[in-house]
Amino acid sequence: MEENERKSDALWGGRFEDSPTEFTQAFGASLPVDKRMWESDIAGSKAHAAMLARQGVISQQDADDIRAGLDAVGERIDAGEFEFDIDDEDIHMSIERNLTEAIGAAGGRLHTGRSRNDQVATDARHHAKKLSEGLAHQMLDLRAALLDIANENYGVVMPGYTHMQKAQPVLFSHHMLAYYWMFTRDFTRLKAAYDAADVLALGSAALAGTTYPLDREFVARELGFAAVGENSMDAVSDRDFLLDLAYACSVAMMHLSRLCEEIIYWSSNEFNFIRLSDAYSTGSSIMPQKKNPDFAELIRGKTGRVYGDLMGLLTTMKGLPLAYNKDMQEDKEGVFDAVDTLGNSLVVMAGMIRTMHVNADVMRAGAHGGFMAATDLADYLVGKGVPFREAHAIVGKLVLDCEKQGKTLQELSAAELAQVDEHFAEDAVEAVDIDKVVERRTTYGGTGHEAVKLQLEHAQERLIADTQLLGA
Ligand code: ARG
Repeated sequence: MEENERKSDALWGGRFEDSPTEFTQAFGASLPVDKRMWESDIAGSKAHAAMLARQGVISQQDADDIRAGLDAVGERIDAGEFEFDIDDEDIHMSIERNLTEAIGAAGGRLHTGRSRNDQVATDARHHAKKLSEGLAHQMLDLRAALLDIANENYGVVMPGYTHMQKAQPVLFSHHMLAYYWMFTRDFTRLKAAYDAADVLALGSAALAGTTYPLDREFVARELGFAAVGENSMDAVSDRDFLLDLAYACSVAMMHLSRLCEEIIYWSSNEFNFIRLSDAYSTGSSIMPQKKNPDFAELIRGKTGRVYGDLMGLLTTMKGLPLAYNKDMQEDKEGVFDAVDTLGNSLVVMAGMIRTMHVNADVMRAGAHGGFMAATDLADYLVGKGVPFREAHAIVGKLVLDCEKQGKTLQELSAAELAQVDEHFAEDAVEAVDIDKVVERRTTYGGTGHEAVKLQLEHAQERLIADTQLLGA
């Protein structure tokens, strides 16, 4: 008996004699996921109704009633007074049914020349733009935090690694700026995802276009879309813009995860390069001394989830014929999860960076170990006319001897060096001075003090330019 009541409610009730059970209705519904697009859905319907009136398809009075009715629905949702009913499959049906209940026949004219396929594509694009923009703002904030910590610690020397083995000393600022540029590219990827979504799908009318004289340009302008979809079949079945967003989220999470990995071992007892604020650490229930970098671990862990969101949608889309297929209803849940996860992770990371303490002395001490000035010592010999290959071998042997004696390169006197090779003169000890080793790397983009100063300026300029791009 209840089943029949549900049937009469369905927007396609006319053709149907039986209705889904409560279970299959819930299984088929996307309302729990897509209700967060309610603002986009209302904006789309208002623009569509205004256009229908302009084109003489519905009366101006109907359009006015529809606009007022939609605003009233919007106010109820905003105030948390709107009751979402799972008998409505999705947000589009939910809003339209409530509208029609409130304003009568005019509500029934809203769906003229439009399909839910256009609506879901339009709402998803409209909403995806907002999501990309929100993430771009959060990305700017993290970049600002990285730039601040790089500026504040300018001059701090630390070991640089390859293969996780000490390689050459670098400035801590240089290391932080490496992440700054990763997140700068992520910002650009989010902008690209925004642009991909910035195309109007409404007016595709299920798949083939419609016989009504729709003005799609007008609707695009009303909704702030930069372009109108060129092909109605593509417009209703394209989800590339969501994939672009999920991909942008995935790459950004990968960058966050790499940074987390460094934060985790930097804060270990062995490294002790940084100390995380208590606010971004947790304790152990059994070991009183523990202070764990849980939040960094969690972001690293959540990266897998976000990759899963991207792979899920790629897989959902791979076998779909044109045009709309219900499979595509699975598109939003994963992407929203990816967006939420990245957004939260960005906030946590920015806070973690802003509150962490840099143990400059420990980093500096670390830069003296591992024979990281060896390349410079070889280069010194090259400067005295020794062929590089030969110089490499001489210094290699020297490192081996030091290792056996438990000495660093900086502990060798000029006399000891001269004994190893006649080309080592008084100034050879300067070749291994850690600050000078860093300073000598004057290449554009290198870790030398001057090069990093320039890089800090460029990073600042880019931050300002990207902030202006967002109109923030
Ligand atoms: N709820 C659907 C979705 O999220 C929109 C409706 C699609 N149209 C249809 N004929 N089933 O994809």
